[in-house]
Amino acid sequence: MDGVHTLNSAAFVRLELDSASKSPTISAMNVLVTGGAGFIGSHVCEQLLLEGHRVTALDNFDPYYPPERKRRNIETALQSRNYRLVEGDYGDRLAVSKLLQADRFDAVLHLAAQAGVRLSIRDPLKYERVNVGSLVALLEALREFGPQRIVAASTSSVYGNTTPVPFREDAPCLQPLSPYAATKRAAEIFLGTYAQLHGFKVIILRPFTVYGPRQRPDMAIASFARKILLNEPLTLYGDGSSARDYTFVSDIVAGMLAAVFKFPVEFGVYNLGGNTPVSLKELVAALERAIGKKARVAAAPMQAGDVERTCADISKARQDLGYVPAVGLTEGLEKTINWVKGELRHEGHAA
Ligand SMILES: NC(=O)c1ccc[n+]([C@@H]2O[C@H](COP(=O)([O-])OP(=O)(O)OC[C@H]3O[C@@H](n4cnc5c(N)ncnc54)[C@H](O)[C@@H]3O)[C@@H](O)[C@H]2O)c1
Repeated sequence: MDGVHTLNSAAFVRLELDSASKSPTISAMNVLVTGGAGFIGSHVCEQLLLEGHRVTALDNFDPYYPPERKRRNIETALQSRNYRLVEGDYGDRLAVSKLLQADRFDAVLHLAAQAGVRLSIRDPLKYERVNVGSLVALLEALREFGPQRIVAASTSSVYGNTTPVPFREDAPCLQPLSPYAATKRAAEIFLGTYAQLHGFKVIILRPFTVYGPRQRPDMAIASFARKILLNEPLTLYGDGSSARDYTFVSDIVAGMLAAVFKFPVEFGVYNLGGNTPVSLKELVAALERAIGKKARVAAAPMQAGDVERTCADISKARQDLGYVPAVGLTEGLEKTINWVKGELRHEGHAA
């Protein structure tokens, strides 16, 4: 696969451009997507390619969940000659500097992260290293070689339990409930500092519980659907009243691309939510209806680090980015369940 490169500071192979890329149209952009092989990142890359842009996905195939899943995420993108995969750590400053020097990017879409609330309680040092330390290394490389235009994924988790509902971007977010949320908030603050100090143009996006095909296996919807289809018990934490503003991945992708292309402000923070919080109990009932099968439910106490409720005020994103979530829960669940069924068939189950 000539679109695949390994990021190391000793050698960096420059992308062979196809003829279309050598004479890009005025609007075609060259975008670096960190975490481009992940759940959201792989969809973002595909959409950028569909819209005629050039994409470099930088990903280290972290084993938080099986890297083989991430390899499958990028199979479609790899077929495009406007796509390049660079394997490596986005926090490797020297190697990233070489990457930035070898190609002229118009913008960076920063999605690489160590995600997941629960693991962050067990291994906070990894979260600090990946989500904060590596970000500062990336920002230093960008300060030197550009571009200083960055759209970065934060998270709704930064709002914690003390922010009034619905969450507005101007809330202080001083009490994140988990190390994951704390590192994402720290990353936001670093991005703000680089905007002020070095003139970076920065948009921070706060996605609210994203679901859809390729969803991370540690997240509720895909893992619940899988368990219902396989007749396995699923664990519900708390009394089922905790609620999430689930957002379908194509809506998140639309919001992210709008941020990259419109870039309406020099520095801004935007919620990207689905606009309708759903309780855990309602979610399981909706999955049962969509699958046509009862779930086997095991109850467990609410987990430390989990917030009670997330609910986005999306008026700012609507106004500045034209962000309007288009996929409701019923449609989103159907698409996700179809993908889970495909995954189960891929694994040899008769789903
Ligand atoms: N999925 C959600 O519900 C959700 C909600 C809010 C925010 N986010 C944020 O969106 C972004 C993407 O999340 P996702 O759900 O797609 O997660 P994901 O784990 O599927 O994707 C993250 C990708 O980053 C890569 N990565 C991790 N460390 C790296 C490193 N040091 N160098 C290079 N690549 C590295 C991983 O291999 C992975 O492919 C993250 O920043 C996450 O915090 C996600």
